Amino acid sequence: MRINKKVADDLANLIQERYGIDVKDYQSFLQLQYDIDEALLARYFGDTKESDEAKNYWKQHLKFETRKTGQQLLDKINALQKQSKDPLEILDVGCGDNEWKEHFGEQLIGIDPFNKNADVQLSIEQFAKERPFASWDVVLVLGSINFGDQATIEAQLVSAASLVKPGGKLFLRANPGITHVNEHAQWIDFFNWSKEYIIDVSERLNFKVNEIGWDHPTDAPDTPNGNRYYSEWTKHSI
Ligand SMILES: C[S@@+](CC[C@H](N)C(=O)[O-])C[C@H]1O[C@@H](n2cnc3c(N)ncnc32)[C@H](O)[C@@H]1O
Repeated sequence: MRINKKVADDLANLIQERYGIDVKDYQSFLQLQYDIDEALLARYFGDTKESDEAKNYWKQHLKFETRKTGQQLLDKINALQKQSKDPLEILDVGCGDNEWKEHFGEQLIGIDPFNKNADVQLSIEQFAKERPFASWDVVLVLGSINFGDQATIEAQLVSAASLVKPGGKLFLRANPGITHVNEHAQWIDFFNWSKEYIIDVSERLNFKVNEIGWDHPTDAPDTPNGNRYYSEWTKHSI
């Protein structure tokens, strides 16, 4: 079960103070914090860019023109397409408003458990479980495997990695643990990604990291929610 450290600690402290009981090991307590975490994620990511509540909804602050996961990623995938005789099949995990669809049309499937603009409204865990033999040329994981404890992050990565075909690519944007400046983000448990962890986990999942660095140029002004790690992975053929 996913643990949201912020919510679990806050609830446990409250219960300890009020009733003098340590609840950290109680299964029903863990279920309660999970249900609250799921509702918090749905509240923050469940709107779309078209909705009235858009002011509380997650917003991208890293500019498409300058971030690695914007125009530069588009150019990279287009270059991969030129080398391939068949149309590339692209999966966007946690697609949000599904904006990559504008560039790749039917070649891309966007999945997201919370956003109605997704082609398939499922989490990566559920989507992969239902497709044990599927394989994609390119899998995008742009800011979507970022929430909860390490066990959750790894289970989601295993799911995403299982969908990349041998020799295929995974592009990752990962948050180094920065809570977004947004009322609805304050209780979201952002995972603390590091370069070392990206390299370690990619190797354990049978990938080689081709490139790793910052998404937003480090000589450009800071953005409200800080910078993100960018990395490009290739899956080994055996
Ligand atoms: C920070 S937004 C990024 C959206 C989009 N990838 C982008 O770059 O514009 C994170 C997205 O991950 C989605 N998400 C959260 N948990 C997920 C999961 N278990 N599987 C797939 N997507 C998830 C959220 O619903 C949200 O749309």
